[in-house]
Amino acid sequence: MAPVTCSTTSSEIRIGEVEDVQELRRARPTAVPERYVRDTNERPALSAILPSLHVPVIDLSKLVCGTKRQSQEEMAKLTAACEEWGFFQVINHGIETELLETMERVAKEFFMLPLEEKEKYPMAPGTIQGYGHAFVFSEDQKLDWCNMLALGVQPAFIRKPHLWPANPANLRYSPSCRRRDREERILLILISRSLGLSPNYFNEMFGEAVQAVRMNYYPPCSRPDLVLGLSPHSDGSALTVLQQDTTSVGLQILKDNAWVPVHPIPDALVINIGDTIEVGAIIHPGFLLHLNPPPNPLLIDATRAMQVLTNGRYRSVEHRAVTNRESDRLSVVTFYAPSYDVELGPVPELVNDQQPCRYRRFNHGEYSRHYVTNKLQGKKNLEFAKIQTSY
Ligand code: OGA
Ligand code: NI
Repeated sequence: MAPVTCSTTSSEIRIGEVEDVQELRRARPTAVPERYVRDTNERPALSAILPSLHVPVIDLSKLVCGTKRQSQEEMAKLTAACEEWGFFQVINHGIETELLETMERVAKEFFMLPLEEKEKYPMAPGTIQGYGHAFVFSEDQKLDWCNMLALGVQPAFIRKPHLWPANPANLRYSPSCRRRDREERILLILISRSLGLSPNYFNEMFGEAVQAVRMNYYPPCSRPDLVLGLSPHSDGSALTVLQQDTTSVGLQILKDNAWVPVHPIPDALVINIGDTIEVGAIIHPGFLLHLNPPPNPLLIDATRAMQVLTNGRYRSVEHRAVTNRESDRLSVVTFYAPSYDVELGPVPELVNDQQPCRYRRFNHGEYSRHYVTNKLQGKKNLEFAKIQTSY
């Protein structure tokens, strides 16, 4: 998704009856309403899956604090991961297990509340903050088997305090998260370095970065072969950091026309490059908790911004979530993107005769608005920025 918050005029959007999947599952455990049943070409059971491939794992402690040799080796892995996968898992990132566990517990506590309580924070049709279904724009659109709570975090003007749950009590904005900004930018520095750019290239370009969080709860589904937890999409951000529980596998990424499952590694964070960079940044979902910040959180979430900035050298990658018959699944996803004011376009150093300019310059706020007012449909939104004649 995009790290955005702009609201559209919800009165014009008719999205029809949208059942809450948790309630549906509770009342009719084997029912799968027609609106959730995917057309044949989208059904997870009929698509090619490559279960034996694994997304690269990057050891951030080696990269940042290791010996020169370790750091070089890890940097080479990071570069290859960004070029070939657009996704990687980060271990030894410096964020305490306890904080990650608390985040997961608090998010789950929210989803387990009675519907009346969660509905106090409704996501209005056509908007993407609050509790509900994002990216639904018409009555005939297929729905994802997922409940979401999405919140804009920074800068302050994107925050909608009336959509921040009062319960659980510690799920609220903590001003202390501002102090983390320095650590959050470490990944951007590493990615700039991996591209041979000056370390602060992206940090300086990003200005007052936009951060948003989305918690996704996927209840079990009696027909995981027919439904999708989350439609295929690439993220509208620059970097995305995803924390997932380890009880089941649900996230899949598209590689060479087949879907590769992202197997959870305890305490690891999944990072992906977004459209803007078809690159990434370091963010921590713990900023949501009213807790003292951990002493040394290193974080990451790369998204679409990076694709454009790197002129397609680092690509945002299409991904989706599938459901499971028996187990539920939770993910906490943080999106990090440049300030809305920033003018984006390929970094001149990455454009040359072999790599002609593939994207036009555009205002990031404009792209974000475009992203959130269209349904999730693979990487189609990025057409917005492409220079068609360059292909
Ligand atoms: C997202 C996303 C995947 C997941 O929220 O953008 O890709 O596994 N989530 O929840
Ligand atoms: Ni995503």
